[in-house]
Amino acid sequence: MDRRDFVRRLPVISGAVLLGAATLPLAACGGMTYLAPRGGAEELIVAVAAVPEGGALVQRPGMERPVYLKQHESGDFVALLASCTHRGCQPDPVGDRLVCPCHGSEFDLEGGVLEGPAERPLTRYPVRVEGSDVIVRLSGGDR
Ligand code: FES
Repeated sequence: MDRRDFVRRLPVISGAVLLGAATLPLAACGGMTYLAPRGGAEELIVAVAAVPEGGALVQRPGMERPVYLKQHESGDFVALLASCTHRGCQPDPVGDRLVCPCHGSEFDLEGGVLEGPAERPLTRYPVRVEGSDVIVRLSGGDR
């Protein structure tokens, strides 16, 4: 991130910092917010208020790929492992889909395949809201 990008993203970074130390934003990279979660090895916990409208990538040190966390208009959250089922690249959120930069696979925001070469959906994790937190259970991936 160069100086111009940093200054342009400063309001996002500052706003996320003001949410408190409970959910620390790592950065806003390419327009996507990264959040550093709380919780143990089996859970990712972030503040509901920290998840922007376009979703966020949640990742702690040691995780090979982040989890894409998004709240739908219904209020329900979806948590998808951002690891392409073709060869493991990290798909990027682009509008209403996740697009893999390596070979062009596209997934919908439920993890379903829209375009190959990937043939399997993204791993989806159970999510629950408790108070002001959203909790992703990593041990319960369905795919
Ligand atoms: Fe994603 Fe090949 S690794 S399309």
